[in-house]
Amino acid sequence: MKPEAVLGEVAEQTAACTRCKLHFSRKKAVPGSGNPHSEILFIGEGPGFHENQQGLPFVGQAGKFLDELLASINFTREDVFITNVVKCRPPSNRDPEPEELEACRPYLERQIAAINPAVIVTLGRFSMGYFISNGKISSIHGRSYQSNGRMVIPMYHPAAALHQPSLRSVVQADFLKIPELIEKSKENRHEPRVVDEIEEVVAEEAPIDDKGAEQLSLF
Ligand code: URA
Repeated sequence: MKPEAVLGEVAEQTAACTRCKLHFSRKKAVPGSGNPHSEILFIGEGPGFHENQQGLPFVGQAGKFLDELLASINFTREDVFITNVVKCRPPSNRDPEPEELEACRPYLERQIAAINPAVIVTLGRFSMGYFISNGKISSIHGRSYQSNGRMVIPMYHPAAALHQPSLRSVVQADFLKIPELIEKSKENRHEPRVVDEIEEVVAEEAPIDDKGAEQLSLF
């Protein structure tokens, strides 16, 4: 099946999904959008108010900042694919619950398999946790990891930088590393492995002391 077809199916399935309680308050599911053949996949947390209204990811304030970040590396939304770990809005923008993350996991797995990106950028701690257990975002943001044959780069959620201005330049600097890491990922790329082991491939600067940043509400 072509990536477009799989992504279309996921969009239909999420629109009708009743696998978790988020469907009760859903206006529109937000399966994700962008280029089905992108070499880079961005994974956020979950839809907020505006995303739930429009059915599109990152259309609020955090999305505006994400557009700026993409522009800083000469990408537009049409070049990349953007999705979330949960496709329906958690009420009042609360954190997604473990059962909700688990219920939505098959959709994300199908999207990753269909797009087959060389690089996955996780935005915030929930999508980071999907690939890297026990990772601390303040220590590992902007570094690259290998997960199941793919490069994964954990980054702060753009909304975290809106809440905490000192993180803005951190996120901007992390984004500037993306083009080089995409190139590097192509050199090291191999077929996905069955074992989902995580190994660090690049260690860069020392962790920045931004204690408490990950406790921020990400919206
Ligand atoms: N925050 C997210 O994590 N995802 C969105 O789609 C919007 C805001």
